[in-house]
Amino acid sequence: MTHSVLIIGGGGREHALACKLQQSPNVERIFILPGNAGTGMIGENVEIGIKNHAKIVEFVKENNIDLVVVGPDDPLADSMVDDLEAAGISIFGPTKAAAEIEWSKVFAKEFMQAEGIPTAEFQVFSDQKEANEYVKRQNFPVVIKASGLARGKGVIIAKNLLEAEKAIQDLMEHKIFGEAGKEIVIEEFLRGDEISIHVFCDGKNIAMFPSAQDHKQIFDNDEGPNTGGMGTITPVPWVNKTLMDQIKRTIVLPTIRGLEKRGRKFVGVLYPGLMITNHGPKVIEFNARFGDPEAQSYMRVLKTDLFEILSACVEARLDQIKIEWTYESACCVVLASGGYPGEYKKGISIDGLETTSSDAIIFHAGTKMQDGAIVTNGGRVLGVTATGKDLSSALGKAYARIKMIRFGGMQYRRDIGAKSSGK
Ligand code: AMP
Ligand code: GLY
Repeated sequence: MTHSVLIIGGGGREHALACKLQQSPNVERIFILPGNAGTGMIGENVEIGIKNHAKIVEFVKENNIDLVVVGPDDPLADSMVDDLEAAGISIFGPTKAAAEIEWSKVFAKEFMQAEGIPTAEFQVFSDQKEANEYVKRQNFPVVIKASGLARGKGVIIAKNLLEAEKAIQDLMEHKIFGEAGKEIVIEEFLRGDEISIHVFCDGKNIAMFPSAQDHKQIFDNDEGPNTGGMGTITPVPWVNKTLMDQIKRTIVLPTIRGLEKRGRKFVGVLYPGLMITNHGPKVIEFNARFGDPEAQSYMRVLKTDLFEILSACVEARLDQIKIEWTYESACCVVLASGGYPGEYKKGISIDGLETTSSDAIIFHAGTKMQDGAIVTNGGRVLGVTATGKDLSSALGKAYARIKMIRFGGMQYRRDIGAKSSGK
């Protein structure tokens, strides 16, 4: 039997998921809401407001859609899974209550403390004066975070007291992230190497992905402001099985069990961001979805039919399927608009997309069709992905493909994977 799938979102992650689902013999039609120029070439983009759950339910029923897959974090925090499930729809992703582990850093930190899950030492504040008193007694740098969702920008690493006081004022008084900064977390600065872990979850059973690593800062050598992610590799060459087993035992399983115990069964992808410190792996943050660009690398090395996996998660039978990965390395290098993560222009035409090469696959993120041409439409524009027998061969193919692509203001990092391939 063939099925129809609706993917929520419009970034590189969603294009990668759509491409993978297109390969499935189980999938006949793919809809993407809102999608981008890339998803429009392999499926049907849907123009319904992402917050209009009633309209989405109607669309799903009218088009006999068998499975909905949620990409981004906002719809999870906005009860999309709860609302569609209540209407009898099969949907891959956690409920609002289970996703609180991502949309409230205060919830996540208190949860980790209660479950003994390793994370940075912290305190929660809803009073500016108390926060100011507390930072005076801290060692620097100190990390100050808005509790709510802030598009990856609600984290400030303060190098001294002045910067810390300014961060507290920006979040709590000037409300630069609105209500997200009503409560803040002040925590210890962790030193080490950062990695991304992803886990398929069906509420009870789990299946870990290989390790991955993102590159959050805009410039080479991890300089400049944080972005949504400028490039990823998988697997991370220095992350061995012993470390993955430790992560599973001390972080992943206690998280899934702790959520279940609280009546917040987690179905979807759990994505803890970790710091590998001298004292072992510690959680920096939890995400309740596929990472982007991590998903773009992962979809290149996933062997098993993605539709089978997502359905098994929704139907709580993940223990009955075997998930296989190729034993290759994969990478994704993001091509971004000039000015990103600050202000940038849109509508710039992109050259060099037509060349096809089996070595590199380009996923679209911020693109759209305009008068028959593909133009930029976001900060992160394209994800150039490649696979290889090892990391340097994958990187070589991705960077070779990038040389053929051009748009005004295009910027990208030249050092994706460099730190980890040399370790
Ligand atoms: P988050 O949104 O919590 O993932 O934070 C964004 C980025 O800030 C992370 O990817 C880390 O690079 C950095 N970061 C957050 N918390 C800490 C911490 N406690 N120690 C060191 N770096 C951190
Ligand atoms: N890779 C960063 C994120 O998806 O949050």
